Amino acid sequence: MKSVSLLIQNAGQLLTLRSDQKGPRTYEHMEDVGIIENGAVAVSEGKIVTVGKTEEVLGRIKIDKGTKVIDSKDKVVLPGFVDCHTHPVFAGTREEEFEMRIKGKTYQEIAEAGGGIKSSVKALRTKSKEELIKLALPHLDRMLSYGTTTIEAKSGYGLSLEDEIKMLEVIEELNRIHPIDIVPTFLGAHEVPEEYKDKRKEYIELITQKMIPEVAKRKLAIFCDIFCEKGVFNIDESRKILTAAKNHGFKLKLHADQFSALGGAKLAAELEAISADHLEFIDDEGTQMMKEAGVIGVLLPGACFGLGITEYPPARKMIDEGLPVALATDFNPGSSMTESMPIILSLACLMMKMTPAETVVASTINSAHAVDKGKEIGSIEVGKKADLVIWNVQNYKEIPYHYGVNLVDQVIKDGKIL
Ligand code: NIG
Ligand code: FE
Repeated sequence: MKSVSLLIQNAGQLLTLRSDQKGPRTYEHMEDVGIIENGAVAVSEGKIVTVGKTEEVLGRIKIDKGTKVIDSKDKVVLPGFVDCHTHPVFAGTREEEFEMRIKGKTYQEIAEAGGGIKSSVKALRTKSKEELIKLALPHLDRMLSYGTTTIEAKSGYGLSLEDEIKMLEVIEELNRIHPIDIVPTFLGAHEVPEEYKDKRKEYIELITQKMIPEVAKRKLAIFCDIFCEKGVFNIDESRKILTAAKNHGFKLKLHADQFSALGGAKLAAELEAISADHLEFIDDEGTQMMKEAGVIGVLLPGACFGLGITEYPPARKMIDEGLPVALATDFNPGSSMTESMPIILSLACLMMKMTPAETVVASTINSAHAVDKGKEIGSIEVGKKADLVIWNVQNYKEIPYHYGVNLVDQVIKDGKIL
C-alpha cells in the first residue's frame, strides 16, 4: 500500500469529470460531471494517486504521520478551474470608460476615440517589469481564492517588440513565483498601436517578421492570438499573422466574431486553431466549420456583462449541435474586470441557458483542453495534478446558483493546501 501526503475524504459530492468521451466533451457528455457520493481522493508528490468512494480509497492507501487528512463531509470537491482566456498583466484601470458606457458610449466608440486597448498600452509602456509583476500578483491571488488553479495569460498591451517581450517575461516570472500555473499567449495583434496608425502594413510586418520569430526563439509563448474584428484586424490580415505564427510552431487562438459576424470562427476552422473565443455573432456555418475542424468555442459571458450588452454567444445552439464549449473570465481592465470563475458559471447558466453541469465541464476539462492541457489537469483522475477545490456547499449546483459571493472553502494546488 502506498503512503499518501494528502487525503480528502467523505466528500458529499466529489466531481471527477471522468467520462467515456476522450478529448473535449460534447453533446450530452457536457452534462457528465462524474459524481462520486461520499468520495475521496488521495495525493502523493503533487499528483492524484487514487479516487473513489471513501471506503474504497481507505482500503488502497497507507495513512501515516506524514498524511494530512481533510474531512469534507457536507462539502463538494471539484478540480480547480482552468481560466483559459485572461489578460491579467496591465497597468491602470478603466473605470472612466465603464461610466462612459453606462452613459451610452459603446466599447468601439471609446476605442476609436483613443481609449480602450490603446489607453492600456500607454499605461503599460511606462511600467517596469517589477512594477507590472507587483500589479498582477493581487489579481492572481484573487483568482486562486475563487478556485482557479490554472490560467492562460495574454500579452497585448505592449504592441512594440520590447513591450510585448516585457509582458511575456512578466508572465513567465509570475508563473515561477505564484502557485497558479500560467500558460502564455502572444497577442501582439491586439490592436494597431498609435504610432502605426497610418502604416498598419508595417505594424503587421513587425509582428510577422520580428515579434513572432523573437517570441518563438525565446520560447516565451505557447499560443498566438489575435483580435480579429472590424476596425482592428480583418480576415486577410488575421490569416497572414496567424499563418506566420503557425509556421513558427505556435498553436492558435482568435478573438473572433465578438462585435460583428466578420468570419473569425471560419478562419479559426481553416487554420485549425485550438480555440475561437467570444463568438457572440457566430453564424451557423461558423459553428459547423469549427465543429468539423475540432476547434473549441471559448465563451466569455463576463465580457458581455461587463460591457452591458445583451448579445451573448449562442451557447445552447453550439452545445446542441455538438461544438465543445469552454468558459473563461476574459479578465481584463476594459471589458471584463473580474477574476471570478464562479460568476462566469452563473452568467453562463442565466444568460446562455447552460446547465450547472455544463458550466462545470466547460470550466474544468474543456477549458483544460482549450489550453492543450487536457491530459494533465481539468479532472480528478489518477495521474493528474492534484489541483483541487473544496467548496462550502452540499450540491455543486449551488456554485452558479448562489452568485456573487465566494463559496470556496480550501484550494489545493499541486497537492499543497494553500
Ligand atoms: O477580450 N476584445 C478584445 N480584447 C479584450 C478587451 C481588451 C481591453 O479592452 O483592454 C477582450 O474583450
Ligand atoms: Fe480577451
